[in-house]
Amino acid sequence: MLSHQSFEAVTDLFHSVSGIRLNETKRALVAGRLQKLAQEKGCSIDAYVQSLTSAHADPQEVVRVVDKLTTNETYFFREPQHFEFLAKLLDQRPAGAGEFRVWSAASSSGEEAYSIALLLADKLGLTGWQVIGTDLSTAMVDSARAALYPMERARKTPTEYLKRWCLKGHADQEGHFLIGRELRERVRFQTANLTQALPEIGQFDVIFLRNVLIYFDPPGKTDIVRRVLARLKPDGHLFAGHAESLTNLDLPVRSVTSAVYVHV
Ligand SMILES: C[S@@+](CC[C@H](N)C(=O)[O-])C[C@H]1O[C@@H](n2cnc3c(N)ncnc32)[C@H](O)[C@@H]1O
Repeated sequence: MLSHQSFEAVTDLFHSVSGIRLNETKRALVAGRLQKLAQEKGCSIDAYVQSLTSAHADPQEVVRVVDKLTTNETYFFREPQHFEFLAKLLDQRPAGAGEFRVWSAASSSGEEAYSIALLLADKLGLTGWQVIGTDLSTAMVDSARAALYPMERARKTPTEYLKRWCLKGHADQEGHFLIGRELRERVRFQTANLTQALPEIGQFDVIFLRNVLIYFDPPGKTDIVRRVLARLKPDGHLFAGHAESLTNLDLPVRSVTSAVYVHV
């Protein structure tokens, strides 16, 4: 059982770290996700929440809770129209244009960043581009760096990409695949909180900011998009999730195709 008071305390804590406000409808979900952590500590959920919010709270434990409460669902080549559009952008690039840099700004366990890398490797080869993935969750960043995935996450991945750039798991990795070393080396992951000052990761030709804005209210969304837009090169493109229209927000963007925007 998670008392009303503990629910308020833990969702306030989560909001202060992530910027995401979980409402009453998420109470069962929050209780379910905290249950295991409390069990590991051998205490009730309420006692666990109390230890998290006390003056002597262990910061590592707070990180574990934030990791548990974020929603990390993702898969390779999600929202395929975006990858078709990215392929067109690459085809239209003038010869001799500089390094093509892409940021997956809520990269979860890395499937989006590696999907981009697979497409870039196919179109440009192994040089002249870079992909950076960032996420709030340290557990997700670790998992992205490991680059080992269950086969079912690759349902929408072209078979030739899997054959050329990925390794099939054997023995205890049966049913999984690993992104090959050449691609892993070109994709960097680090933690970053989109609601705070961003790390120094440079400017980008394309930014994927997908399926994360849904967790924020309109002022929160606007704040994040403005911070992210500051990292877009003048002729760059911002990709938002298809359920996350930016047109109703007060933002200096123009839509060029479904869920793709340029800075104006
Ligand atoms: C549903 S996943 C989206 C993954 C991928 N972009 C996609 O579209 O498939 C949402 C991700 O946003 C991350 N996230 C939530 N709040 C965040 C914040 N304030 N800063 C950075 N990442 C955040 C979560 O940890 C989670 O991995």
